[in-house]
Amino acid sequence: MWEYSCRDTAVDLGSTTVRMHVRGRGVVAREPSVLARSRSSGRILALGSSAQELAGLTDEVSLIEPIRDGAPAEPDETEYLLRHLVRTHHRRRYTARPRMVVAVPSDLTPLQYEAVESAAYQAGARQLELVPTPLAAAAGSGPAGTGADVMIVADIGAYITDIGIIAFGGLVSSHMARIGGAALDRAIVAHVRREHEVLLSRAAAEAAKLAVGSVAPRGRQRTRQAMVHGRDLATGLPRPVVLTAAEINRAIAGAIAAMVDAIRIGIGRCSPEISGDLMSSGLTLTGAAARLPGLDRLIGTETGLRTRVGEDAADAAVLGAAEFLRHGVPRGGRFPLRKARDGVSIGVWPTRRCQPLT
Ligand SMILES: Nc1ncnc2c1ncn2[C@@H]1O[C@H](COP(=O)(O)OP(=O)(O)OP(=O)(O)O)[C@@H](O)[C@H]1O
Ligand SMILES: [Mg+2]
Repeated sequence: MWEYSCRDTAVDLGSTTVRMHVRGRGVVAREPSVLARSRSSGRILALGSSAQELAGLTDEVSLIEPIRDGAPAEPDETEYLLRHLVRTHHRRRYTARPRMVVAVPSDLTPLQYEAVESAAYQAGARQLELVPTPLAAAAGSGPAGTGADVMIVADIGAYITDIGIIAFGGLVSSHMARIGGAALDRAIVAHVRREHEVLLSRAAAEAAKLAVGSVAPRGRQRTRQAMVHGRDLATGLPRPVVLTAAEINRAIAGAIAAMVDAIRIGIGRCSPEISGDLMSSGLTLTGAAARLPGLDRLIGTETGLRTRVGEDAADAAVLGAAEFLRHGVPRGGRFPLRKARDGVSIGVWPTRRCQPLT
């Protein structure tokens, strides 16, 4: 018999990485959310990592980042990217359209909400549900180990830190701040410009962060260092710069403090009825930027909550979105989890066998 549910598709539309999960096959794509466009013809030439490579080769190609702060800033290009991923990762014999759950930031404007909906339908979704990232990340981050019904999750991505309190089976409050791993890269660029008079690319700053960045306590990891290349501001020539772990630690301190402040505000939104439970359930960090060494310990100290980095932190939101396709989206909470308009059935999709996304 056909296993129709194996087309169920979960998507995390990240500002830097689009992740896609197909039921029965796991996470099938972790693609940079970029497209390469020809400056002369305006045509889209490549997507994802091939777009990045192409843009590095020639000035004729401009790189478009269609998803900003977790929402489509360029709706047509977002749709193009999503449609391409859906087509690539659904085997050709599947002529029907998938049921889809998309993880979105908890604080989307109605216009952004519609843009995501429209991109997903145009990409081929037959039925669609949008879920707030903290709720998805909570479902995808593995058991907190406490058996508690209350959970607080902070998903730290590239541009967004999205904090949500999950109780009564839904998201009861959330706070979204425009801070994430990319702010750490910007801080490193600014530091190197000021202290070394060298201009670094964002990618070089990120590479240094990934190599030796941490929020380790003073005195630890001081000897580790990374070499990056940038442009000397005085001569305009390429120049290598050696950055120590301590230097990066110092450079990113301000951005880390802003992240911690955002998480504090998110926790502060919790009602007194459940704040006691939060003490026992603790805080779960997800998102790729949560993997910065020492960040969990610092956040734990600053908030007084037992803090852990969730399993598969980077994929947590897409894995949780996939869980909702399997078991249904929780209806509790105050997030406007509304059912998007029903899609139309095409091809061999058996409508009556399809579980509604409730
Ligand atoms: N091991 C790591 N340590 C520290 N930072 C990391 C690590 N791996 C990835 N990052 C950072 O995580 C960020 C990307 O996170 P993620 O993939 O969750 O973002 P996104 O979902 O694309 O963006 P957003 O959720 O903000 O829309 C980047 O800034 C990257 O440098
Ligand atoms: Mg994300």
